[in-house]
Amino acid sequence: MLSRCLQLVMLALLVFSASWTLAEDAPAESAGIEVMSAFTSAEVEEGEAVVISDKTKYLVMFLMGVPLLLLLLATVVLGVAMGVYGKPVFVAHMVCAGLSMTLATAHAVVGLVWFYPF
Ligand code: HEM
Repeated sequence: MLSRCLQLVMLALLVFSASWTLAEDAPAESAGIEVMSAFTSAEVEEGEAVVISDKTKYLVMFLMGVPLLLLLLATVVLGVAMGVYGKPVFVAHMVCAGLSMTLATAHAVVGLVWFYPF
């Protein structure tokens, strides 16, 4: 008789503990989803320092492009002066060539980052 009572108590405990676990799990799960949605649905607000208007971007590209064209022209002129007219301007030709390539790389990278439609 005693063991029968013990069995009943154990069964009741089992049923209650199972229902408590289920009751606790549901809010925990929904709380987890809420926490995750705070990360997934949050819109990234860019700071003032990062927000650049398209007009400013075009201006920066233009301001890089003008000296780039001038440097390229200078490199070509110096190259022709050296190659065709035999002037000793090799170092100047190299400096202009180096600056042209550097500016061309920067111009290309900035252009890709800002305007390539990823
Ligand atoms: C029509 C345009 C150009 C002409 C006629 C020209 C002419 C020359 C000549 C004659 C040399 C040989 C100099 C020597 O060995 O004494 C040379 C070297 C060189 N040029 Fe130009 N060049 C021109 C444009 C450019 C441009 C646009 C760049 C790069 C942006 C450039 C970069 C170089 C470099 C790096 C060298 C050294 C190559 C070496 O010595 O192995 N050139 N150029």
